[in-house]
Amino acid sequence: MWSCITDFFTYETTKSVVVKSWTIGIINRVVQLLIITYFVGWVFLYEKAYQIRDTAIESSVMTKVKGFGVYNNRVMDVADYVTPTQGASVFCIITKMITTENQFQGYCPESETKYNCTHDSDCTKFLNKPGSNGIPTGRCVHFNSSLMMCEIQGWCPAEIDTITTSPMMEVENFTIFIKNSIRFPTFNYTKGNFLPTITDSYIKKCNFDLVNNTYCPIFRVGDVVRYAQQNFNILANKGGVIGIKIGWICDLDKSDDECNPSYSFTRLDAMSQKNAVSPGYNFRFAKYYKTENGTDYRTLVKAYAIRFDVLVNGNVRES
Ligand SMILES: *[C@@H]1O[C@H](CO)[C@@H](O)[C@H](O)[C@H]1NC(C)=O
Ligand SMILES: *[C@@H]1O[C@H](CO)[C@@H](O)[C@H](O)[C@H]1NC(C)=O
Ligand SMILES: *[C@@H]1O[C@H](CO)[C@@H](O)[C@H](O)[C@H]1NC(C)=O
Ligand SMILES: *[C@@H]1O[C@H](CO)[C@@H](O)[C@H](O)[C@H]1NC(C)=O
Ligand SMILES: *[C@@H]1O[C@H](CO)[C@@H](O)[C@H](O)[C@H]1NC(C)=O
Ligand SMILES: *[C@@H]1O[C@H](CO)[C@@H](O)[C@H](O)[C@H]1NC(C)=O
Repeated sequence: MWSCITDFFTYETTKSVVVKSWTIGIINRVVQLLIITYFVGWVFLYEKAYQIRDTAIESSVMTKVKGFGVYNNRVMDVADYVTPTQGASVFCIITKMITTENQFQGYCPESETKYNCTHDSDCTKFLNKPGSNGIPTGRCVHFNSSLMMCEIQGWCPAEIDTITTSPMMEVENFTIFIKNSIRFPTFNYTKGNFLPTITDSYIKKCNFDLVNNTYCPIFRVGDVVRYAQQNFNILANKGGVIGIKIGWICDLDKSDDECNPSYSFTRLDAMSQKNAVSPGYNFRFAKYYKTENGTDYRTLVKAYAIRFDVLVNGNVRES
C-alpha cells in the first residue's frame, strides 16, 4: 500500500543525449527541413489546406439544339430529332430511324430469320416465351410466297430492323447551346457559364473550341464528338452516349473573374464500344393514330441516337 503511494508521487523525465556527429546531425536537419517544406510548400501554399471547401454544388442546366437535317427526303427540325424535348441536361439527337408504318393489332408472321419454319411443330417451342415482336401463337404461316415464319399476335406487320439506312450526316453541324447556373451553398456563391465578357454579338456567331473560344456556350456536335475522341460516322450509325462535363474549380480568395467553367468531353458508354453484343445506343417509340372507324394504328420508330449528358461538378474554397 505504502509503496503504491510513493510510486505515485514521483516525477520522471527523459534524459536527452547530444550526439556530436556530422552524419547524424545532417540527417536530422534534412528530415526536419523536409517536414517543414512539406507543410509550408504543399499543404499551405499549394493545396491551401487551411481553406474551407465546398463540393456540394447546386446546379441547373438548360439545353437547346439548333439545325436542320434531311432524312428520307424530309426536312427534320428540332421537334423531329431531339428527345425528350424539355431541354434538360440529358437529351438525345436522333441520327438514324427505322420506321414501320401502319401497324394494327392482329396476327402476322415474325420477321426474324430464327423463326423460320415448315410445320406448326417447328413453332411450338416458342410458345409461352416472349417473341421478338409479339406473343407466339404456335402456328406456321407464309411470310411471302417462298418463306414461312411462325405467327405472332401483336402489332402487325412486324418490324424488320435489319435493313441498313444511312444516318443523317447534317447532325455534325448542329449546335448545342448550354445554359448552366451554379450555387455553392456554404459560401452563397452564384455564377453562370455566361461570363460577363460574353457579349450579345459574340454569342450570335461563336462556337466553342479548346483554344480561342473556351467560354463560348455553343457547341458544334461534330466538335464535341471529336473532343471526346470518337469517330462521328461510327457514332451516328450505332448511337452512343457522350458526356459534356462542366467543372467549376475556384479559389474564392482570388477575384471573381478567375472563377470560370472548364469544359471537357468524354464518351460515357465506353463499354458498348468493346462489346459486340449490344453496340451503341438505340430505343423505340411509337406515334398513335385512329382510323375513321375508330381502330388504333401506329407508326413504330426504332431510333439510333447520340445521347448527351451534361454533368456539372464543382470544388470551391475560401479562407
Ligand atoms: C431455317 O433456315 C435455315 C437456314 O436458312 C435452315 O437450315 C433451316 O432448316 C430452316 N428451318 C426450318 C424449320 O425450315
Ligand atoms: C421472302 O422474304 C425473304 C426475306 O425477306 C426474301 O429473302 C425472299 O426473297 C422473299 N421471297 C419472295 C418470293 O419475295
Ligand atoms: C457542315 O458545314 C460545313 C461548313 O458550313 C459544310 O462544308 C459541310 O458540308 C456541312 N456538313 C454536312 C454534313 O452538311
Ligand atoms: C445570398 O446572396 C444574395 C445576393 O448575392 C443575397 O440576396 C442573399 O440574401 C444571400 N443569402 C444568404 C442566405 O446569405
Ligand atoms: C485560334 O486563333 C488563331 C489566331 O487567330 C488561329 O490561327 C487558330 O487557328 C485558332 N484556333 C482555333 C482552334 O480556332
Ligand atoms: C377499320 O378499318 C381498318 C382499315 O381502315 C380495317 O382493317 C378494320 O377491319 C376496320 N375495323 C372495323 C371494326 O371495321
